[in-house]
Amino acid sequence: MLEVRNLKKSFEKYEALKGINITVKKGDMIAIIGPSGGGKTTLLRCINFLEKADEGTLVFDDEKFNLAKINDKDIAKIRKKTAFVFQNYNLFLNKTALQNVTEGLIVARHVNKNRADEIGMNLLDKVGLKDKYNLYPSQLSGGQQQRVAIARALATNPEIIFFDEPTSALDTELINEVLDVMKELVKEGITMIVVTHELSFAREVSNKVVFIEDGRIIEENNTRDFFENPKEQRTKEFLKKFLNNNR
Ligand SMILES: Nc1ncnc2c1ncn2[C@@H]1O[C@H](COP(=O)(O)OP(=O)(O)OP(=O)(O)O)[C@@H](O)[C@H]1O
Ligand SMILES: [Mg+2]
Repeated sequence: MLEVRNLKKSFEKYEALKGINITVKKGDMIAIIGPSGGGKTTLLRCINFLEKADEGTLVFDDEKFNLAKINDKDIAKIRKKTAFVFQNYNLFLNKTALQNVTEGLIVARHVNKNRADEIGMNLLDKVGLKDKYNLYPSQLSGGQQQRVAIARALATNPEIIFFDEPTSALDTELINEVLDVMKELVKEGITMIVVTHELSFAREVSNKVVFIEDGRIIEENNTRDFFENPKEQRTKEFLKKFLNNNR
């Protein structure tokens, strides 16, 4: 369904991504993990064209795009099929929860307002926020704001949703309400790529894990083998540190 091939990105002389390859199949829930500064966010930003890759190919639904030379028309085409949820929600502060969810439908998809509101209310219901539809982001908790962001991502019915540490800005007690919504999406078979430091979540719900460090994929495997039988020394050390912190 989606494939990233040999993605490279440097900032001046610093090579942040040194040739990343990822294959995503429909229904995959891929967890991307790894130490800070490894290039996880840069990877997602290159796929979302917030950063321009220096090299690399994106194959999406059998169509091939050169990430270093992609034009606006192709970017728009890919953006139509993808959605992103970031660490800091990125909601419009002057719009209500419902307006945040329906904005993309009304402006980008030209869905009429009544229909967009209907879709929006259903999605807010799905993330447990139907009764908060008329509140502004400043009136919502962090976990609620992130659930609005997830409802917004779902609104345009994307083929794949990318998450970048969706819970890392949240207090412990709010993390689970967001993870629970994400688990629901996994159950529904929505294809997702999730950058996360929540390794127990990754272990529980992903089907594949990619471990990135220093701009390279150090190890990738199906989730079970990744956690039970890591092959690389670096992976073992990373997992050990995590297990020690969570004891
Ligand atoms: N705009 C930029 N200019 C210069 N260097 C950058 C820029 N963006 C990222 N980098 C560098 O690229 C490297 C990878 O950063 P990135 O944010 O992708 O890491 P990460 O894996 O997401 O880390 P974290 O887990 O802390 O979020 C870092 O060394 C970072 O300093
Ligand atoms: Mg990051």
